[in-house]
Amino acid sequence: MIEEVTTREQLERCWAIRLEVFVEEQKVSEDEEIDAIDLLESTVHFLASRDGVDLGTARIVAEEAGRCHIGRVAVRKLARGTGVGRELMEEAARIAVERYSDSRGNLEIAISAQEHAIPFYELCGYVLVPGERYLDAGIWHRDMVAHFSGQ
Ligand code: COA
Repeated sequence: MIEEVTTREQLERCWAIRLEVFVEEQKVSEDEEIDAIDLLESTVHFLASRDGVDLGTARIVAEEAGRCHIGRVAVRKLARGTGVGRELMEEAARIAVERYSDSRGNLEIAISAQEHAIPFYELCGYVLVPGERYLDAGIWHRDMVAHFSGQ
């Protein structure tokens, strides 16, 4: 089940997953991981769970009409490879198209992908943007993008 987060309690459950995945597992600093963007009114968080167990999270960051960013995609180790990540990406894209498309119904979703996750995002329909790899929080990333059209 994928829920859109509407309460502080749900947001804290998303943070708990991100602390487990990004801070404990990937050694990102907590200060970098939990940022001011999390609390913006325009940021949409998602919480994935099964049988009452929280398994994954992601967020949409609004940029401008017709463009947004999906990030902080994290699935707990115990649930990886079972489709939770793909479900999160599909639901986030569905909501992003609904809310952030431009007046002609077009939307570009940008991803800053950790290199190991590039095949996952490709399976979700994203393509690499030409350009250099870069370090973010000490982890190599590449930019990826997908285009959606409401027409
Ligand atoms: N490399 C290659 N393929 C991958 C992959 C990887 N690292 N991770 C998932 N896939 C494939 C799956 O095999 C599956 O393919 P299939 O449909 O052909 O069977 C498809 O992608 C969907 O996989 P799914 O089970 O939905 O992915 P997941 O729930 O394991 O989530 C991540 C993928 C990357 C979100 C998860 O591994 C994770 O949270 N990793 C740690 C945090 C992280 O690095 N997040 C990304 C930040 S940019």
